[in-house]
Amino acid sequence: MSIDPRFEQLLKDRIGLDAITVGASVIDRAVRRCMAAVPGRDVEVYWQDLQNSEAELQALIEAVIVPETWFFRYPESFATLARLASRRIAELAGSRPLRVLSLPCSTGEEPYSIAMCLLDANLAAEAFKVDALDISPLSIERASAGRYGRNSFRGETLSFRNRYFTAEGNGYLINERVRQQVRFQAGNLLEPGLLAGEQAYDVVFCRNLLIYFDVATQEQTLQVLKRLTRDDGVLFIGPAEASLFTRVGMQSLAIPLSFAFRRQALAEATPVVTPPVVRRPLPPVPVPRPVAKPVVKKAPVVADDSAEQLALIASLANQGHSAEARQRSEAFLVSHGPSAEVFYWLGLLCEVEHDASGAQGFYRKALYLQPQHPAALAQLAALLAAQGDQAGAQRLQARAQRGVGRYE
Ligand SMILES: C[S@@+](CC[C@H](N)C(=O)[O-])C[C@H]1O[C@@H](n2cnc3c(N)ncnc32)[C@H](O)[C@@H]1O
Repeated sequence: MSIDPRFEQLLKDRIGLDAITVGASVIDRAVRRCMAAVPGRDVEVYWQDLQNSEAELQALIEAVIVPETWFFRYPESFATLARLASRRIAELAGSRPLRVLSLPCSTGEEPYSIAMCLLDANLAAEAFKVDALDISPLSIERASAGRYGRNSFRGETLSFRNRYFTAEGNGYLINERVRQQVRFQAGNLLEPGLLAGEQAYDVVFCRNLLIYFDVATQEQTLQVLKRLTRDDGVLFIGPAEASLFTRVGMQSLAIPLSFAFRRQALAEATPVVTPPVVRRPLPPVPVPRPVAKPVVKKAPVVADDSAEQLALIASLANQGHSAEARQRSEAFLVSHGPSAEVFYWLGLLCEVEHDASGAQGFYRKALYLQPQHPAALAQLAALLAAQGDQAGAQRLQARAQRGVGRYE
């Protein structure tokens, strides 16, 4: 049970965090931990401290954020970035550098991956600049330091580490050549004047943040992202966020597993040839939202621990523990009955094993239970597009758009 609903509201107002998406217990634990930092402090005193001290508030924010990230997360999106950026830089013909924004950047893996990707594409250092923002000053400090442990390197292709890092103790230090491409600063996506003095960006990465917001906050931040992205710009998002972007007039580039959007109509966009899909780490893992009621009767459950079980499956899958994630998923189906969310995870796990038909089967099961499941729609559409079934992919995208309309 929540310690006090005021804390949830405060976090929602200040950083957009929706208690339902992360689970009230996560916020509750963070509040208790921060409150206990001053021995003997009770809830009321802590509440007052939060009102009067930015440092107290920041400490609570640091305790609830989810800084999960790693280098070259969703590799296909970086292949797409290299192609689009090369083309755009050629069009700019030296008139100005390409402007890229990574928001939220967490501890820096995403913006450094952008820089490495563009350097690997033989683009000159002066041809592009990356701005990187996150609400967490601690994460920004870590990003600026550029020191990374093994957890930041999760893909199967790690050759970039030899090219752009120096081994140091138990970790790796990013090379100066990459570091000088990225400018870090703390910033809140909800702040009305965020980056107001800056020109709009050619490329914006905003991945795995909107999944933590409720619909109203998503609407608000989508407008900010639209302002920050040039009319001819491209926006890279997390797969679970795909369905949100159509409502602000952005159009998917339909490049499998890249999750790239632009403001032009799809027909106007020049098609980009995508390389064959290589064995890859898991696609993004959204924090589970409450699932729609299954149409099939559930098995009796003693205590409703489904949110925790789903979060565990998400976390295991996200860390690449596929076998355990699968085991937990199957156990969940036995104990709780059919679940759209779990079928979605099983689909993702099949994709990791290159079992496209198995993945399709699970996504279809998820959509049978929850016809507007955004992530299942996005993944199935990407799979169909990758297999050349553009009509099928477009049907699913249209369906996702109709789902968006239901909120309006
Ligand atoms: C899961 S990480 C995503 C990092 C990276 N984009 C990726 O996909 O790997 C989410 C990040 O969002 C940041 N964050 C949370 N609320 C924010 C806000 N209102 N404005 C800016 N950053 C925020 C957190 O500090 C955290 O580092």
